[in-house]
Amino acid sequence: MEDPSKIVREHTFGTWRKQKGWEPINIVKADGVYFYDSAGKKYLDFSSQLVNVNLGYGNNHVIKEIEHQLENLQYISPAFATETRAKAASSLLQVMPRNLTKFFFSTSGTEANEGAIKISRLVKKPSYKVVARYRAYHGSTLASMSLTGDYRRWFTEPNTMQGVVRIPEPYCYRCPLNLKYPDCGIACATYLDYVIKNEGNVASVIIEPITGTNGVVVPPKEYLPIIRKITSENNVILITDEVMTGWGRTGEWFAVNNWNVEPDILTTAKGASASYLPIGITAVNKEIAEFFEDNIFAHGHTFEAHPVTLAAIPAVIEEYKRLDLLSHVKAMGQYLGDRLKELKERHKSIGDVRGMGLFWAIELIKDSKKTPFGTYEDKYEGKSTPVDVLTKRLMNDGIYVFGGPSWLVISPPLIISKEDIDIGIEKIDETLNSLDKQFT
Ligand SMILES: Cc1ncc(COP(=O)(O)O)c(C=O)c1O
Repeated sequence: MEDPSKIVREHTFGTWRKQKGWEPINIVKADGVYFYDSAGKKYLDFSSQLVNVNLGYGNNHVIKEIEHQLENLQYISPAFATETRAKAASSLLQVMPRNLTKFFFSTSGTEANEGAIKISRLVKKPSYKVVARYRAYHGSTLASMSLTGDYRRWFTEPNTMQGVVRIPEPYCYRCPLNLKYPDCGIACATYLDYVIKNEGNVASVIIEPITGTNGVVVPPKEYLPIIRKITSENNVILITDEVMTGWGRTGEWFAVNNWNVEPDILTTAKGASASYLPIGITAVNKEIAEFFEDNIFAHGHTFEAHPVTLAAIPAVIEEYKRLDLLSHVKAMGQYLGDRLKELKERHKSIGDVRGMGLFWAIELIKDSKKTPFGTYEDKYEGKSTPVDVLTKRLMNDGIYVFGGPSWLVISPPLIISKEDIDIGIEKIDETLNSLDKQFT
């Protein structure tokens, strides 16, 4: 066969980039927390790909359950019931926040959010506005892209969905309101009340409990409870986007559990199947579920509730439990966090280290004024930043880490061991010396 990298490069799209300069590495196999290219080179997956390969590669139980379903019933219209669908729903009831009792199954995080927005607008009609944040990613189709606050939305403008209103985010390292925690009184959260009352017609608020691709921003402990209180008082639906933060990533089944918050709608994907198959889930509370008893649930896809994808959900939950991954994540998360904080002591180019569980970012700066190495504008223009050079260098050294304009996201598969964390940290440690040299 002609070089697969060449065919892939010429006949398929590399996403969120100019096609020129794309040289995709041909990956042939993977096992545990490692994947391998066609030359036999081994890479430690230090980001779980896109923060989604939560169980690592080659989990036999999940593979067997999927194979079994494929042999039994590979597809049936979503209008029918199947045992698999019942089992997926029952197993979700064991792990989701207790108030969420009904599920819509799709095939991606983007679709899970599209569903959530449509549901919130149907329930709250004629209210239609959705409050979102700047430092946010919710997906790549019309509604989810319009809610996305980062540079990826700019490409779509002006053809975005109407009715999106923004509030600032709890990004304490660079507070958008120029305030300091805790004297700020969590103004970024309390301001939501003002926005909802003055906008009028607000149907819902969508928030990543911990901002993901935009730099793993962990909010102060008061933040999410305040947002919950304000949305309840104003009778507005709270949607938490747990596409990245769900499924043990933070040491809890879902990140909202860290603050004892129950959203009205929770969206998730990625870790729901540990990415053995594409899955999206929109989970809603009883009140929303009951609304649709006498109102049409005006939504659906051909691949909605696909039996083979649903077979992965209970299998994955069984594995999370069998491997006691929530406890493992808490222990490994503490270790990883401590090791990253040690790096900060040694490298002046590290401005901030933040995270929870196995979900961390190091934010990189090029001077004492916290100037970033790259910006959203650079990304929008397709410019390569020093952080891109750094991640490329790490790949050469056998460590896969995904980066933003001026940060690295360190989020290994939840099964990672201390020894493998050490391997990743040591390589990052060495590689950061090159950025330190650019620090002024
Ligand atoms: C918080 C969040 N929401 C939504 C999405 C979109 O999910 P998908 O890429 O599966 O469509 C992502 C993807 O990274 C995400 O991180």
